[in-house]
Amino acid sequence: MDIFQKALDFTEVRVARESGYYPYFRVIESESDSKVLVDGRELIMLGSNNYLGLTTHPHVRERAAEALAKYGTSCTGSRLLNGNLDIHEEFEGRLARFVGKEAALVFSTGFGANLGTISALASRHDTVVIDKDDHASIYDGCKLSYGKVERFEHNDVESLRAALERSSNNSNGNGGGALVVVDGIFSMEGDIAPLDRMLPVIREHGARLMVDDAHASGVIGPKGEGTSAHFGVTDQVDLIMGTFSKSFASLGGFIAGDAVVIDYVKHSSRPFIFSAAMAPPSVGACLGALDVMESEPQHRQRLWEVTRRMQAGYRELGFDTGTSETPVIPIILGDEMLVFEFWRRLAEEGVFVNPVRPPAVPAGRALLRTSYMATHTDAQMEFVLEAFAKIGRELGVLPA
Ligand SMILES: Cc1ncc(COP(=O)(O)O)c(C=O)c1O
Repeated sequence: MDIFQKALDFTEVRVARESGYYPYFRVIESESDSKVLVDGRELIMLGSNNYLGLTTHPHVRERAAEALAKYGTSCTGSRLLNGNLDIHEEFEGRLARFVGKEAALVFSTGFGANLGTISALASRHDTVVIDKDDHASIYDGCKLSYGKVERFEHNDVESLRAALERSSNNSNGNGGGALVVVDGIFSMEGDIAPLDRMLPVIREHGARLMVDDAHASGVIGPKGEGTSAHFGVTDQVDLIMGTFSKSFASLGGFIAGDAVVIDYVKHSSRPFIFSAAMAPPSVGACLGALDVMESEPQHRQRLWEVTRRMQAGYRELGFDTGTSETPVIPIILGDEMLVFEFWRRLAEEGVFVNPVRPPAVPAGRALLRTSYMATHTDAQMEFVLEAFAKIGRELGVLPA
């Protein structure tokens, strides 16, 4: 059999393109903010993770430009050998203080931070215990590791307990340990992992906890430090992971924790060692974003104003927004075709959203993922709610 046969048989996307229901790889012709230009038309952007709206902030642009001017475009190599800049280390120190940990290590992507940390820590006799709805990069980190994997039902503490019991059996007599890994804010449905209720169970089993704050950094916690600070349990969470591709308005990722653990990951993580360092303009943008997060709380405050307005707006209209408590607000429609039709009509009306279908969400839970940023205006919010109400009635999701 030709190894390319699967590509030749892959007709699903061709059919979707031909029928006008292909929502992926849309070409954006403008900067990424609360509105974007697609095919020469302005759309209100509800599909971005630019929560604080910092991609266009003058200070963030300036720091990215300064780093570009001083260090050039790339490090052209791994941090281990020839790509370790003073600004990588300066940023790691500031980041560790920001999230409340001893040390931090930055990777070139958030995906790489999960791959690199989990695979470095989980050896043959260890178990990685994951929430079924964890991000793909956590699943792939498990695949890359030599550890066993136990999954538990989404945000279900009793199911977590059972998974930890199984992991104790896995390591019976061979000295293996367990690492629980959860998303802090879940990327598709915007709900929060109940760290306060999970921690006692994790401690009881002598396991460690790693929290992926990709969608939580800059968003929750008294100063935007993330999920651990939100629950006041930073000292009990062993590892905090995050990305720079969202609130930090850049590209890259990090892991933070005790210095000795971070140093181990730094010297044993293949995705970290055998991959080039974060590019200087990306580090510059991150430093700028951190300056802004620390000195201009108004962006986070506005993000929450927008979030509360939209959560209330959708719920008043009668949409199912699940258990979202954050700027990620799903509109759960259930049926995949309905989601695609709703998506198409929203694009016609001038609204950019992301349709999400299984396996990214459980079967029967297809949804429109909407997400908000500090730069959304009141007028944009009203426009969006009117468009959702109109299309909701038109497609029979809301009463006529
Ligand atoms: C929960 C979660 N973890 C990790 C990642 C990977 O981060 P990045 O896109 O910055 O590589 C993402 C991004 O999509 C995410 O949503």
